[in-house]
Amino acid sequence: MAPTTLPGGTWTLGDLTVTRFGYGAMQLAGPWVMGPPADHDGALAVLREAVALGITHIDTSAAYGPHVTNRLIREALHPYPESLHVVTKVGADRDQQGGWPTARDPESLRRQIRENLETLGVETLDLVNLRLGDAEGPKPGSLAEALETLVALQQEGVIRHLGLSNVTPEQVAEAQTVAPIVCVQNQYNLAHRGDDDLIDDLARQGVAYVPFFPLGGFTPLQSSALSAVAERLGATPMGVALAWLLRRSPNILLIPGTKSVAHLRENVAGAGLSLSGDDLAELDRIGR
Ligand SMILES: NC(=O)c1ccc[n+]([C@@H]2O[C@H](COP(=O)([O-])OP(=O)(O)OC[C@H]3O[C@@H](n4cnc5c(N)ncnc54)[C@H](OP(=O)(O)O)[C@@H]3O)[C@@H](O)[C@H]2O)c1
Repeated sequence: MAPTTLPGGTWTLGDLTVTRFGYGAMQLAGPWVMGPPADHDGALAVLREAVALGITHIDTSAAYGPHVTNRLIREALHPYPESLHVVTKVGADRDQQGGWPTARDPESLRRQIRENLETLGVETLDLVNLRLGDAEGPKPGSLAEALETLVALQQEGVIRHLGLSNVTPEQVAEAQTVAPIVCVQNQYNLAHRGDDDLIDDLARQGVAYVPFFPLGGFTPLQSSALSAVAERLGATPMGVALAWLLRRSPNILLIPGTKSVAHLRENVAGAGLSLSGDDLAELDRIGR
């Protein structure tokens, strides 16, 4: 991959080089991640702008829509540039009410992999995260059986690398006895700091940590301290929150979501802000 000018530079997931500034496609689907987007062409424009800006990491799942974001990614970007890596996840389906029922038995996982391959239009998925827990967060319990199904699919050649999502540190350790894990995707942001120790531990091991809801997700981050730092720097609070994440640890990869080309550009610019020691100390107090 050519050198990037995006903030944060690059990271290597297994043998895949990605920009640390990525893009999360989930909210491109309709309300509550169900159905088509209100603005189909606008969604395609955001995906194309992400690639035009040099982003090489897009996060998705067949469960988003379901199948909506994968199809948008395919429509906007297929045939994919060689440098682009689309990361997907399996472990849940969608029901009629928009719920996310668990689907981690071998047959369901194999079906979800097939659905991802078909809707993204690829023969191999670059990176698949096994998503555990539920909408409230990680839940303890063994992941071995589910992960072994994905390892079998990896050996069959349809998955290149494996990651985990919505997991406890114990589940990460268990997974690492089953297969190499290149990333962990959990909820984390300035105000939600439960994974601080896990991030540091993964950084020591050279494993990426990919915070989901980096901007607060469905309830965007709001903090007077964040707004004060942003005002002082002449930046947006969202930009400052992303710059803080890039500074927090070198193994953090960003996948902020947006439906807006303007917000995408604003977020890239914001993530490149330099934060002083005083800024960092003030921001650090938000989630402690
Ligand atoms: N593994 C998992 O279980 C899991 C769970 C949730 C999400 N994810 C992944 O994480 C990615 C990120 O999560 P997310 O998109 O839900 O949440 P997010 O990135 O924390 O926040 C997205 C929200 O922030 C708003 N926003 C973005 N930039 C903004 C700006 N510059 N100014 C004002 N508002 C701005 C967006 O609204 P606009 O559209 O108006 O910009 C959207 O409402 C998802 O796309 C998905 O791929 C994974």
